[in-house]
Amino acid sequence: KRTVVLISGRGSNMTALIAAASDPAYPAEIVGVISDRVNAAGLGIAAARGIPTKVIVRSDHASKEAYDGAIDAALVAFNAEIVALAGYLRILSRGLVEKWQGRMLNIHPALLPAFKGLDTHARALRAGMRIHGCTVHFVTPEMDDGPIIAQAAVPVMVGDNEDTLAARVLKAEHRLYALALGLVADGKARMEGGRTVLAHFA
Ligand code: GRF
Repeated sequence: KRTVVLISGRGSNMTALIAAASDPAYPAEIVGVISDRVNAAGLGIAAARGIPTKVIVRSDHASKEAYDGAIDAALVAFNAEIVALAGYLRILSRGLVEKWQGRMLNIHPALLPAFKGLDTHARALRAGMRIHGCTVHFVTPEMDDGPIIAQAAVPVMVGDNEDTLAARVLKAEHRLYALALGLVADGKARMEGGRTVLAHFA
C-alpha cells in the first residue's frame, strides 16, 4: 500500500518505517514524506533514501483550511493509500481527518488513553507509573483519541529520567509502528464503526 509519512522533526519513526518497507515482503511502501517544517531533520534522511519529500509550511497559507487543503492535495498527488503521522506536531482539521479516516495512523508515546498530549514521559514519571509505552491508533478528529491498533509497554526503571525513559519508549515505537502499519496495509487491522477490528491470526 502506498504510504505517505507526515513529520515535523527528527523522523526516527519515519526512518523505521522506511527500513521496514525496504523488505519486499512488507505490505506498505513509503512513497513520500511531508513536513510542516523546512528544517526537519527527517527530510534529509528521507531524501538520502531516495524518497520524495515535500515541505508544506502553515505560514505560507492564509488559513488552516488552505493549509489542510494543501496537505490533502499533496497526499492525492502521491497517490497515498495510507497516511502515517510520525512526530507530526499539527492537529489536522476535522474534514481532512474524516476524509482519510481508517487510512490515517498516528504514533503516541504513551499507553493511551493515559497521557494524551505532550510531555508524556515527564507526566508518566510524575505519576509514579511502573510501566509506560507507546500506542499506534487510527486518527480521528479528537487528538490522541482514535481506535487503538497496537501498543507496546516498557518498564519504568528506578533512576529513570525523562530522557532515559523516552529513549526506551522510542525503541519500542520503532518496532511497534512497523508492526501496526503492516497490519493496516495487509488489511489485518481496520477501522469499523469507530473501533479497530483485528484479524484472527492463524
Ligand atoms: C515520537 O516519540 C512520537 O511518538 C511523538 O514524537 C516523537 C517523534 O520522534 N509523537 P521522531 O520524529 O519519529 O524521531
